[in-house]
Amino acid sequence: MTRHRLLFVCLGNICRSPMAEGVFRRVAEDEGAMHDFEIDSAGMGNWHEGQAPDTRAQAAALTRGVDISAQCARQVRAEDFARFDILLAMDRSNHADLMSLAPQDARHKVRFFLDFAPHVGTKDVPDPFYGGNEGFDHALDLIEAASRGLLEVLRKDGAKQARRGG
Ligand code: 4NP
Repeated sequence: MTRHRLLFVCLGNICRSPMAEGVFRRVAEDEGAMHDFEIDSAGMGNWHEGQAPDTRAQAAALTRGVDISAQCARQVRAEDFARFDILLAMDRSNHADLMSLAPQDARHKVRFFLDFAPHVGTKDVPDPFYGGNEGFDHALDLIEAASRGLLEVLRKDGAKQARRGG
């Protein structure tokens, strides 16, 4: 399979995108596919630069066996549009912000994460930052669905490319 470079993007990089990075890594590892990926996460804002994920996000992820405690928040940078193949926005606001930052030749790389879970019926992973623990669980349900869908799409693409000879 072709190696894919994925960047998960939310607003603060302490709740949704770190959970997405951790869950996607787990899903890919479970399928023995993590060697096909380089993944990272980042936020549109810089308020939490250098911080570990929100303790509620860490705890919610850990209940599903996903340890995100070692992650460190950072802001999206201009070079991310060259370095990554797909930038996965957690909601419409992140998508609009990424599109306004993206150079013309990288706009096609900006996608909604939930495009890979069409059955959930929404484009937005709701921001759990200002709510209770149930918001983190709901975000994780959406993130798990999109992670499985994304892995499946990329593996199918890789198989197609392999059949075409690269
Ligand atoms: P996230 O949640 O975008 O899922 O990391 C947020 C975290 C922090 C803030 C907003 C959203 N904040 O305004 O500090």
